Order: sequence, then structure tokens, then C-alpha cells
Amino acid sequence: MPAPDTAPTRKGRALLLENIHADAEALLSEAGWEVETASGALDEAELVERLAGVSLLGIRSQTQVSAKVLEASPDLRAVGAFCIGTNQIDLFAAAAHGVAVFNAPYSNTRSVVELALAEIIALTRRLTVKDRAMHEGVWDKSATGSHEVRGRRLGIVGYGNIGSQLSVVAEALGMSVFFYDTTDKLALGNARRCGSLGEVLEIADVVTLHVDGRSSNSGFFGQEEFSRMRPGSIFLNLSRGFVVDHAALRRHVESGHIAGAAIDVFPSEPKGSGQSFDSELRGLPNVILTPHVGGSTEEAQEDIGRFVAAKLRDYALHGATTLSVNLPALATETAPGTVRLAHLHRNVPGVLAAINGVLAGAGVNIESQQLATRGDLGYVVTDIAAPAADEVGRRLQELPETVRVRQLS
Ligand SMILES: NC(=O)c1ccc[n+]([C@@H]2O[C@H](COP(=O)([O-])OP(=O)(O)OC[C@H]3O[C@@H](n4cnc5c(N)ncnc54)[C@H](O)[C@@H]3O)[C@@H](O)[C@H]2O)c1
Repeated sequence: MPAPDTAPTRKGRALLLENIHADAEALLSEAGWEVETASGALDEAELVERLAGVSLLGIRSQTQVSAKVLEASPDLRAVGAFCIGTNQIDLFAAAAHGVAVFNAPYSNTRSVVELALAEIIALTRRLTVKDRAMHEGVWDKSATGSHEVRGRRLGIVGYGNIGSQLSVVAEALGMSVFFYDTTDKLALGNARRCGSLGEVLEIADVVTLHVDGRSSNSGFFGQEEFSRMRPGSIFLNLSRGFVVDHAALRRHVESGHIAGAAIDVFPSEPKGSGQSFDSELRGLPNVILTPHVGGSTEEAQEDIGRFVAAKLRDYALHGATTLSVNLPALATETAPGTVRLAHLHRNVPGVLAAINGVLAGAGVNIESQQLATRGDLGYVVTDIAAPAADEVGRRLQELPETVRVRQLS
């Protein structure tokens, strides 16, 4: 059981690995943390060694934060994944040790939207074919098969963060937007919601996939869906590699039924830069292949740096868990002139009464209190007029349901 955090200051040491953007270091240093950085990932043993005395850890996709690392790092309070995915972190073990995990789900939305738009224009204009001919020394000045995107119909499948932003920007270029989403989504601008995937496929000149990675989406776009697309239409996938049957796409490009395609994500992707890449889509005309770079821009990296560092800071200072991927969400800042007790516990009946019993028994006056739950976890933040005695922290920590107690002044 971790000891309660009752020290008057929450600031301490932060460790940022894997070349996280410099803005993250600047933000945490400015807020009072002593920040150490390293350019690469660390293996399990190195990580445990470096985490002694470190309360905030920042990683990207290569550092594995396993249950063993979390078990062996009692000083750790929060982990920031400076990326989108959090598969590299044992979220369950983190929650069990009272370690909050944050990521940056929205920082690269615009980058994906801009790449999709660039590709829609390039493919509709057949720029890839013109470019290849020029490099081969052929001057092919002809308008045949080249179109403006203005007035063309864009079909968006998956109207989430990316799909809906693409909808707005594509309309600004004069495209007519149609979309299909499995959940009821509000249509933005003049976009029109379709009742089925088939409806989008039959109406759109360009079909672009922006669905999430739920397992039921595996292989959901294949022979039947390509066949339903309009002859001469364009296809894009910048969502997940496993959602599209590439053999079916190849057949439809070779037959000319699909006039062009852009694919950024693949069922199996090389682990790192410089490694060889193979796909049945290589060598096809008017097909743009990119190495999963939809969200990879310097702007997105900068935004991720600031966004995740701010989440770590706000959690450390105020116990704010908004957008945490593993703890119940509570947002507010500590009220001026008060001290906050942040109590993470197993979500069973009676814990709130037990916490308040401890506080009442010690004569502590509660200024405000909030509770949030998420699955097996409950989180209570209680603002009190003056710092509580160490004994109060100890008694709260000793409640059988307690995962972690922090006093934030
Ligand atoms: N290429 C890249 O570099 C890159 C970068 C960021 C995100 N992505 C991927 O882009 C995708 C979209 O990201 P997002 O942030 O917009 O996600 P999101 O969760 O906000 O939106 C996904 C939407 O798809 C809908 N959906 C799921 N399955 C569907 C189906 N079968 N048919 C119709 N609608 C369906 C959901 O209801 C949701 O509205 C994700 O798969 C994400 O991993 C790729």
C-alpha cells in the first residue's frame, strides 16, 4: 500500500523520454519541476532505476510501462503518453497503483485532415501520374481525367474528430459532403447524413475512411464495398490498416473501377524508419502510399508536447483527471485558500461516508467535495480550509478501499 502524499509540495522530478517536444520540458520546468530528458526509450530495468524519486514520466510509443515497472516505482504519480496510443502502458496496473495516465487524442486531428485533403486534390487531378511521367521525361499536357474538387461529392465514413473536421474544410473547398457513422452524429455545415454505408458509396465521388479501431471494423471494407462505389471514384484510408481488404482494392484499381487511392495505414507496418515495406498496393498507378504519417507534423508534435505536459501538471497540482485514460474524470482547480485531499479508491458502497467519517473525527471542515467513478475506481476530491495533519492522511490511507491519497496544497 503506498504511503499517503502529505508533503506540502507536489512538485518534484519529471523524466521525459523519447525526444518529447521541448515545449513539454519548458512547461513543467516553469511550473517548478526538475526535468530530466533522454532521447531514446529505456528498457524495463533502466526505467525502474531512473524512476526512483520521479513523480511524472513522459514517454512516446517505444517505452513499455509494464506492471513490473509500476510495482517497482512507488514515487510515480502520473504517466504522459506523448502520442495517441496507450497500448505501451499497463493501464490496469497503473490505476491499481494510483498512477494517472494521459495521452493526446486530438493534437494531430488537423494534420490528418490536411493530408486527406491534399490527397483528394492530388488524386482528382491525377498529379501522381503527371509527376511520374515528368520524372520519366514525358511531357503529357492534357486535361483528360483531371478534375476540380469543387462540386464533387465527398463521402466520409466515420464522422468523429477527424471525419467531422474534414467535413468542414472540404465544404470550404466547394465539395458536397455526405457521411455515414454508426452513431447518431450532428451534421456540420451543409453536410448530409446518410442512413447506411451503401448510400454513401453509391453517391460519393471520393470515399474516405475515418473509423476507429474497434475489432468489429476488421476487414469491414472489401470486395462488396468497392463494387458499390461509383465507377471512376477515389478511395482513401487514413484510419486503421486492418479495416480494408487490400487485395480487393488492388483488383478495383487494376480494373479502373477505382480511379485513384491514398493509403496511409497498413495491416502490418514496419517497426521503424528505414525498414523495408511490402504491400500488394505497391506499383499501382494513381495510388499514393504514405508510411502512417497522417498525424505526423511538427505542429502536431508541438501540440502534443504542450497538451500532455499540461495534463501532468494539472493532475499533480490539482488532482485534475480530465481526459485521463484510466482514472475517473474530475476537472476543477483547487479553490483559493484551500487544501485538496485527492482520494482514489475501489468503487464500493460506503467509501465516501468512511472518508467523511475520518475527516469529521479529526475536526476537519469540508469546503467542497466532488466524486467521480469509472468502473472499479472511485475518485473523491475534498477541499478543506487548512492542511490536514499527517494522521488524517494515514487514516485515509488505511481505509481498506483506498488506492492512493494525496494532499495538494
Ligand atoms: N493516419 C494517422 O496517422 C492517424 C492519426 C490519427 C488518428 N488516426 C486514426 O483515424 C481514425 C479516426 O480518428 P478520430 O480521432 O476521428 O476517431 P473518433 O473516435 O473521434 O471517430 C471515429 C468515428 O467512427 C465511427 N465509426 C466506427 N466504426 C464505424 C463504422 N464501421 N462505420 C461508420 N462509422 C464508424 C465512430 O462512431 C466515431 O464517430 C482512428 O482509427 C484513428 O486511430 C490515424
